[in-house]
Amino acid sequence: MPAIMQFPAFDLLHWFIDNHAARYNISLSDMLPATFDEVKIKLEDLNIAENFVNGRPELRQLLAGQHGVEPDSVIVTASCSEANLDVCMALLKPGDEAIAVMPNYPPLRDLPKGLGAKVKELMLRTEDDFVLDMKALEKAVTKKTRLVIMTNINNPASSIITKDQLAGIAEMAERKDFHILCDETFRELAFEKRPPTAAQFGDRMVVTNTMSKVYGMGGLKIGWILAKDKALASIKNVTEYNTVCPSGISDRIALAVLKEKDRFIERARSIIKRNRPVVEDWLNRNDRVHWNDPGVGNVAFPKVDADVDRLAAVLLKDYSTIMASGSFFGVKGRFRLGFGRKTEDLVTGLENFDTALKSMA
Ligand SMILES: Cc1ncc(COP(=O)(O)O)c(C=O)c1O
Repeated sequence: MPAIMQFPAFDLLHWFIDNHAARYNISLSDMLPATFDEVKIKLEDLNIAENFVNGRPELRQLLAGQHGVEPDSVIVTASCSEANLDVCMALLKPGDEAIAVMPNYPPLRDLPKGLGAKVKELMLRTEDDFVLDMKALEKAVTKKTRLVIMTNINNPASSIITKDQLAGIAEMAERKDFHILCDETFRELAFEKRPPTAAQFGDRMVVTNTMSKVYGMGGLKIGWILAKDKALASIKNVTEYNTVCPSGISDRIALAVLKEKDRFIERARSIIKRNRPVVEDWLNRNDRVHWNDPGVGNVAFPKVDADVDRLAAVLLKDYSTIMASGSFFGVKGRFRLGFGRKTEDLVTGLENFDTALKSMA
């Protein structure tokens, strides 16, 4: 075990925070930030003194019902970032192997490295709309593999791991003795095409999620973990040192929102419905940018006929526009396009992209 833990730097986070003064960001992955007015809750409903180990019982029960698991399987955490760290800490030890299904949200590739585990990257089939190759997964697993980490739907490509694939992965995990961390932060944004929660596929599946993206409520800092059996016991051992109790104010607000989940999903759907045609028109007009349309989600991962890292630098410097290069996600020559926020900003951000791209010709 290393004397001091060495977590790789979170470069994507730094790219965003170091350049937060930029006027436009065409790579954000959350939905339009929600306002307090959109949540039917009064200040007097909030109790500044209360909090609950593993989260408010009513919220755990609600989440359990929404995912078809027992309330005891639900642990409410202070964000999905924390949930993912808790799961990796519980299920990996130094020298173990983890497989990160790529492209992926960078911490899901890098967290295990900080814990002394070895990470093998398994690329989704890029030529094939970022589909998971089950045979390649089977081949990548070794005796040392303890965890396979994936996002469903995928961040940044919005591709889907299907119900049949989830069943196949669960069977493989049982046979080869590993767990799966399935981060479902974006799952609901596939709307009627959404895959089932991995929590439905047995004891090897561990699911994480958050209020940050679909609901536009990053400020709540509320996430959750769904786990069973031995994984649940190990994860609780970690969260009881780490989260212990998530904020009682935040999990009360999360409860109010999730009781009306459908209203907030419709909110997200209407924003995407407005912004998607902007993206489609832009792509149809732009022969240097290519998209295998995932058909779902609020992010996409188009290919660009240009040096994308250089383009990102030009966009930032000359157009006050931030774009996250595919390099952050392990794939060069692409970028993450986010279209869950203000339409006018998306339009201007994409115009800036075109002008910057032309200037580089
Ligand atoms: C897949 C994924 N998981 C987790 C997070 C972070 O969630 P939270 O804001 O709850 O920490 C993100 C944020 O971009 C994400 O994309």
